[in-house]
Order: sequence, then structure tokens, then C-alpha cells
Amino acid sequence: MTQDALKQAVGQAAVDYILPHLEDHSIIGVGTGSTANCFVDALAKVKHKFDGAVASSDATAQRLKDHGIPVYDLNVASELEFYIDGADETNDQLQLIKGGGAALTREKIVAACAKQFVCICDDSKWVDTLGGFPLPVEVIPMARSYVARELVKLGGDPVYRQGVVTDNGNVILDVHNMNIGSAIELEQRINDIVGVVTNGLFACRPADVLLMGTKDGVKTVRV
Ligand code: 5RP
Repeated sequence: MTQDALKQAVGQAAVDYILPHLEDHSIIGVGTGSTANCFVDALAKVKHKFDGAVASSDATAQRLKDHGIPVYDLNVASELEFYIDGADETNDQLQLIKGGGAALTREKIVAACAKQFVCICDDSKWVDTLGGFPLPVEVIPMARSYVARELVKLGGDPVYRQGVVTDNGNVILDVHNMNIGSAIELEQRINDIVGVVTNGLFACRPADVLLMGTKDGVKTVRV
């Protein structure tokens, strides 16, 4: 099975997972990236079963609209039943690294508003220890050098993601070689640096369930 086929399988699995809980007024939180795109494409087939979606990026909002799914501002949606999104890495605690697509801040906000965060990925994202994937940090542009120096003090090697401006008008530092012992502590420590908007560790609010595509089928993982 190709990686694309695994992504399609988990996209469909996520629709199957939420479908029994959808009602006419339901609004679903939707993430960003190639796996989330597979979810959106599968979701479009059942768009008559729910009201609409809140998107974690402009790209996802456009894809939802292209499918005829109404897109709501998060401020007018009440609590979301589900947030569905991919990840760059996950460990067995369902703590994640996200932000490969530079959408980490809006992803974290929408995830925070959801009763259930359903992570979808193929099994290449499963790791024993987080940190092989460089940790994305969204930074206010004028604070870029200061934040980079602070990240070096924490033991990381930050690299400016050239040419990328987030949907919020900020920049991304990708932190290589970061020793992620306690993901919760590090998430909070990095977020305390002045100028950081947020970082791509999803440990304070991990996923609640993981649907992981493997060659033997989609596995459901809970902590
Ligand atoms: C975007 C993200 C994505 O969820 C993450 O990068 C995974 O993407 P893909 O499904 O394309 O592998 O965090 O900011």
C-alpha cells in the first residue's frame, strides 16, 4: 500500500468514526495537510449530514468551500464535537509534533475548542521519542533572532523556514536536535519565550484517539 493510499484510508476511517455522532447542527473542526485533505474529500460525500466546518488554515477553508461545505468563523461556532487533523510525529501518549504545514497555531486553537481530537496519520509518523522531525515554532517576525537565541539556550538548532509566512502573518523557526524529554514541560517553556506565538508540540492537549494507517489496516490507538 502506498503512503497516499494509507492517508486515504485514514481519511475515510475518520469520517466513519464521526458519522454516527453527526447531527444537522454539527460543526466539525478540520486540520491542515495532505492527510487532512483526504479527510475533507471523504467528508464531502456526507456533507448533507452536518452543518459545516471550522478550518485550521486558509488552504483547508478553500478546500472545504470547493466541496460545497460551509466554513464558519470559530468565534461563531460553539464547542466543536470533533477536531480531525494529521501530525508530523506521534508517540504512544498521543503527544504530537505538528506544524510541517505551518498551520500549527490555528490547529492548536481549533483543537482546544474540540471535545475530541481525532488524529489521523500513516504509521511512518509513529515514533518512540518525539523530536526526529524538527519542531516548528511560530514567531512574531521582529522577534525572530531573539527567539532563535533563546531556543539555542534550550539546546536546539533553530532554522528559519525561508519564504514562509503563516496565515497569521508570522514566520516559522524549525528547531532541529531538540531533546524532548518532557513534552509538556518543553511545550510550556518554549511558549513562555516572548515573541513565540506557539510551538508545534501538542502535549498539553494531546490527541484523544489516533487512527493510524498500516499495511494491515487502520489501527485505533487510545492512551
Ligand atoms: C500542518 C500539520 C500537518 O498536520 C502535518 O504537517 C502533517 O501533514 P501531512 O498529513 O501532509 O503529512 O501539522 O501544519
